[in-house]
Amino acid sequence: MSATLTPPPHCSFDVDDWQRLARHWYPVAKAEEVGERPYKATLLDEPLVVYRVKGELVVARDVCPHRGVPLTLGTHDGEGVVCPYHGLRFGAGGRCNRVPSSPDQPIPAKLNLTTYPAVERFGLVWTCLAPEEDAATTFPTMPHWEDAGFQQIVCPPVDIACFAGRQVEGFIDVAHFAWIHTETFADPDKPEVPPYAPVETAYGFEVDYRSTVGNYPVGSMDGRAPSEFEWLRHFEVHLPFTATLTIHFPDDQRLVIMNAASPVSARKTRLFAPIARNFDLHIPVEDVHAFNLKIFEEDRLMVETQKPERLPLDLTMEAHIPADRSSIAYRRGLKRMGFGQFFLV
Ligand code: FES
Ligand SMILES: [Fe+2]
Repeated sequence: MSATLTPPPHCSFDVDDWQRLARHWYPVAKAEEVGERPYKATLLDEPLVVYRVKGELVVARDVCPHRGVPLTLGTHDGEGVVCPYHGLRFGAGGRCNRVPSSPDQPIPAKLNLTTYPAVERFGLVWTCLAPEEDAATTFPTMPHWEDAGFQQIVCPPVDIACFAGRQVEGFIDVAHFAWIHTETFADPDKPEVPPYAPVETAYGFEVDYRSTVGNYPVGSMDGRAPSEFEWLRHFEVHLPFTATLTIHFPDDQRLVIMNAASPVSARKTRLFAPIARNFDLHIPVEDVHAFNLKIFEEDRLMVETQKPERLPLDLTMEAHIPADRSSIAYRRGLKRMGFGQFFLV
């Protein structure tokens, strides 16, 4: 059964905004967490079940076509996911392959799950609720992910009680380092933001931000970079909710962080963060997870308490400072895509 452009009941977005958002790709799970057991996710208020069967990845609406029980309450038996209520089983392609109460009857297509495309990339499972013909061309990219010499790390997802747009805007904000991130990487004595200029691209915009704010963990910086080393942070913002940051460390060391904000609802975001780097490869990945989760925790209080919760796309509705060029480019980009002024109801 193919997906439709109808928002789920109790949708927390304005209907037009939901329909625009549904055309884009978002991660819904860390790939290694998805096996044969039904895995529960929610995207744009739509409950999803994610599972593997005989090596195939399936993303489907988490509603049994028979009597509407969530399949994520069910089990699995190697041939598919088994609904807990009457035992209907769903295998490859979300197709119903067993009706225990009438095992010899043909199974009508109406008993198949409503499925969505499932793509495994950057260590994540991605889906799109309403793919268009050209959807593949709008898939976010990540610099260096497959380059030789780079280690691939996927942080555990982080649940944040805010609108995805506010979270992404925080990720591309360069004026808050000296205030929020002083216990992880930033310097409270370097609050100044040198000028920078976002450049529009087909997928959103990119920006090179140069400053002397380092990116080694606080307490481990001594001698690793000259004090006046110019740090380049290259952002690629793939509208609406994915951004990658490539940080140029000394000696051609590179750290790439993808900030993929998955909109669970208008007020809940599940943040996925794949990382690629070509240095400090001896450091345990658990330490890398912990360091990055600490940074996202530092941001949490800000993005969860901002008012309005929504992201005002009418630039006259909030006050701006010169350091906000990326934030303004972000809002303009979303407005160009046709999203509503408030971008959530
Ligand atoms: S509700 Fe799922 S099998 Fe009946
Ligand atoms: Fe931050």
